[in-house]
Amino acid sequence: MLQIGPLHLDSPLLLAPIAGHCDLSFRILCREQGGVGLASTDLLNSRAILNGSAKTLELAATNDLDNPCGMQLYGNYEDPLPEAACWAIDHGAKLIDINMGCPVDKVAKKHGGSLLLRDCASTMRLTESIVEAVRKHSGGRVPVTAKMRLGWDREHFVAPILARDLESIGVQAVTVHGRWTVQFFSGRADWERIGEVVAAVKSIPVIGNGDVTEPHHVIDLMRQTNCAGVMIGRGALRTPWIFRQALEMIRMGDNPNPEGVFAPSFLYKCQMIRRHIDLLTQFAPSERHALHTMRSRIAWYSKTMGPIKPLKEAIRTALSLADMVIAIDSWIELAGEEQEIRQKTACANVG
Ligand SMILES: Cc1cc2nc3c(=O)[nH]c(=O)nc-3n(C[C@H](O)[C@H](O)[C@H](O)COP(=O)(O)O)c2cc1C
Repeated sequence: MLQIGPLHLDSPLLLAPIAGHCDLSFRILCREQGGVGLASTDLLNSRAILNGSAKTLELAATNDLDNPCGMQLYGNYEDPLPEAACWAIDHGAKLIDINMGCPVDKVAKKHGGSLLLRDCASTMRLTESIVEAVRKHSGGRVPVTAKMRLGWDREHFVAPILARDLESIGVQAVTVHGRWTVQFFSGRADWERIGEVVAAVKSIPVIGNGDVTEPHHVIDLMRQTNCAGVMIGRGALRTPWIFRQALEMIRMGDNPNPEGVFAPSFLYKCQMIRRHIDLLTQFAPSERHALHTMRSRIAWYSKTMGPIKPLKEAIRTALSLADMVIAIDSWIELAGEEQEIRQKTACANVG
């Protein structure tokens, strides 16, 4: 469904890196819902990786359930990005992605991210050294990609030329988030300009990104831009099953019917929350971390679950994962009973 150099993905839909959110547990959760072709780690500091920073190594953690996994690196022209990329390959990365889009001051003022959009000549030299190191280290098995914004600001729409130049030195796909660095996350993503990047490259896939929050947005973005793949970030935090729904729509062809796509029940959503807690129990670096993650995540999940204030409150105030499990299990039980009654009533009505 999407070929990135030597890497074949079963779906053209990618989970976006979202620092602080798309950890190993969440990546596995989204994959299990279906439709995810690739998920990447959140941005990893190249120096911190090589210095063995415990926090960065936690962020880089992956396993067999998280396959294929991309690792996203950031750094500037003086950082050891080629060495960090080789480390990433040795630790499970099936794809190396270079962050050229992070707008956050801490990163973009000094360390990399969107900074790389400001001096494209240096970015080309840096990327060339990464591509070469990765090619040698992996024997050509692992592609290098770049994730960029349109440019620093409206006066510097560098993405089309940069993408084409990166292609010429062996970068095998680019993801374009349709915003300017100075916008951070405000305004709308400009899909038209993503289309201009698609038109600028010769043959590598361009992955469109920005404001895809409903499955049909995937179809709209692909149609409008001709992009080969779509990356979804915040939409997945709310509805991790969006990839499955969008892939079903893609498979429907020219006339996708939103009515015919997977519609998760309330019970399903409760069970998914339980699964997320289980994954955090297994893979989060500590219980404290897991509790913190789930407390913030319940706010996203609740957006599609109607009035669940008592559940939100129970998750927010739980002092242990065991307490969270007790809370969600009671909702699963209730939702299961209600679903059963509804099904019986429906059968009786048909009968
Ligand atoms: C809180 C937050 C953290 C992010 N962290 C990363 C990151 O680590 N690496 C990256 O390339 N993009 C990061 N992004 C950008 C997203 O990957 C994505 O490009 C952006 O959110 C637009 O896509 P969306 O509208 O589907 O969310 C982050 C975005 C947010 C909101």
